[in-house]
Amino acid sequence: MKIKSADFVMSNSDVAKCPNELIPEYAFIGRSNVGKSSLINMLTERKSLAKTSGRPGKTQLINHFKINENWFLVDLPGYGYARVSKKDKSIFQKYITNYFLQREQLVCSFVLIDIRHNPQKIDLEFMEWLGGNGIPFGIIFTKADKLKPKASEKQVNAYIETLLQGVWEEAPPYFITSSSHRTGREELLQYIDGINDSFFKAAKK
Ligand code: GTP
Ligand code: MG
Repeated sequence: MKIKSADFVMSNSDVAKCPNELIPEYAFIGRSNVGKSSLINMLTERKSLAKTSGRPGKTQLINHFKINENWFLVDLPGYGYARVSKKDKSIFQKYITNYFLQREQLVCSFVLIDIRHNPQKIDLEFMEWLGGNGIPFGIIFTKADKLKPKASEKQVNAYIETLLQGVWEEAPPYFITSSSHRTGREELLQYIDGINDSFFKAAKK
């Protein structure tokens, strides 16, 4: 898929105020600093469409970007970041939770995992929560440039193995990416394109 346009639409913390067009939407979620915003810039080939930072906690709010005039990418704040106070954290989690539970247009969420990290409870629990609520998701392994290809493959296989030994009967779709090396861009866009096609075909019926 060619990216012809990528535009920031709005940021807010209330799912009810998100754009109301019924076009397919994809959200990126994962620990703070895992590379959600960088991946949006890599996919769209826009240097600073989404704001990135070396310090965790950069993205706040629900950020909508409209791509090719007919689908949305959504950048979300990270989870598992301790600097916010307990009170802020619970508010933050509530609006993210509401977003996932109420957003009709959300056709697929991507849980981002730093390829260097072994499976962590917070990510596994979040995926279980998505699954339990019938929210389709894929896994995106990020920062693959930090490992040699063989080591990346080993990490990914071990990760999927952990999922299969846990609550999952089959592995979710997964992608290996590097925003700095543009790895995985085509595969991911192709996957999104396929879902977009099904969405628009179903909408026509
Ligand atoms: P929050 O908004 O704080 O939740 O973080 P985020 O998940 O959006 O991460 P962000 O994209 O801001 O990136 C965090 C840091 O990781 C930045 O310093 C990026 O330059 C770096 N980074 C992101 N993707 C990659 C990658 O593919 N390779 C490498 N080497 N660094 C990356
Ligand atoms: Mg971010």
